[in-house]
Amino acid sequence: MVTSAPANQRARQAIRDTWGGEVEVRGLRFMTLFMVGVATDPGLGKLLIEEAREKGDLIQGRFLDSYSNLTLKTLAMLGWVRRFCPQAHFMAKVDDDVFFNPSALLHFLNKSRNPYEQGDLYLGRVHLHVAPNRDPDSKHYLPSGAYPLSLFPDYCSGTAYVFSRSALLKVALAASASPLSTPLPPEDVFVGLCAYAAGVQPSHCPLFSGGPPVPYGRCCYQAMVSVHHITPKEMLDYWKDVHSSPPCSWLTQRASLGMCKVRAMLGSALGLED
Ligand SMILES: *[C@@H]1O[C@H](CO)[C@@H](O)[C@H](O)[C@H]1NC(C)=O
Ligand SMILES: *[C@@H]1O[C@H](CO)[C@@H](O)[C@H](O)[C@H]1NC(C)=O
Repeated sequence: MVTSAPANQRARQAIRDTWGGEVEVRGLRFMTLFMVGVATDPGLGKLLIEEAREKGDLIQGRFLDSYSNLTLKTLAMLGWVRRFCPQAHFMAKVDDDVFFNPSALLHFLNKSRNPYEQGDLYLGRVHLHVAPNRDPDSKHYLPSGAYPLSLFPDYCSGTAYVFSRSALLKVALAASASPLSTPLPPEDVFVGLCAYAAGVQPSHCPLFSGGPPVPYGRCCYQAMVSVHHITPKEMLDYWKDVHSSPPCSWLTQRASLGMCKVRAMLGSALGLED
């Protein structure tokens, strides 16, 4: 499930032309759908209807598509998947600027558990001990009236996270039962709060990027499950390159993963982070 904004048509097409176009990964069925809200601009709304007719992969929620309504998008997505995807073992929520690698995800899941095993999984890059933003000038401002505690429960970064079916059902139920404060907490925090209420623990996977941008490396991107801050052009170029031959060996992947993590950390230490 890709959360996308009505205007991001190019990002959606880049995803369809790359990882979102996959229908079978490691012998398992795979499907990509896009979740959008209602466009404020009626012209854009018309384009969306045409795109939906042509591609058949858009889901539109009944809310105005805006940054502060992202949490409503996630709520709509959870409800939709709960209702219409009873056969899906896993759901990944991915932003439309994320280079996602379903093959690397399935490889990781297969190594760490039986993919058909029933059990709760809430997987991603886990943010620990985050405090609510109390700065009224910030776009993430959350007054204590909306969230009184001094820390959030640990949660997975919103750029990409994965639920198993059982975890999704519990979290979607908790989400539909939770009172909606104004302003709403950021979507990933909201999902974390619902998971906490449902008794579902987040699990950390270092193959999900977060924080500093990960510099491109073929073998590194082949091993990562998700990398964010990717433009549509980069998505197309990187996908082609990552799938060009020869495949990287296990050892090369390990070594280049280490290298690109070090470069990402150095980049952020030197202030190169965007
Ligand atoms: C999972 O691992 C087994 C044993 O290594 C392998 O035979 C199978 O193809 C793998 N499945 C996936 C989906 O990667
Ligand atoms: C969020 O969506 C609701 C329902 O469409 C709308 O009334 C509200 O104005 C939206 N909020 C923002 C900030 O766009």
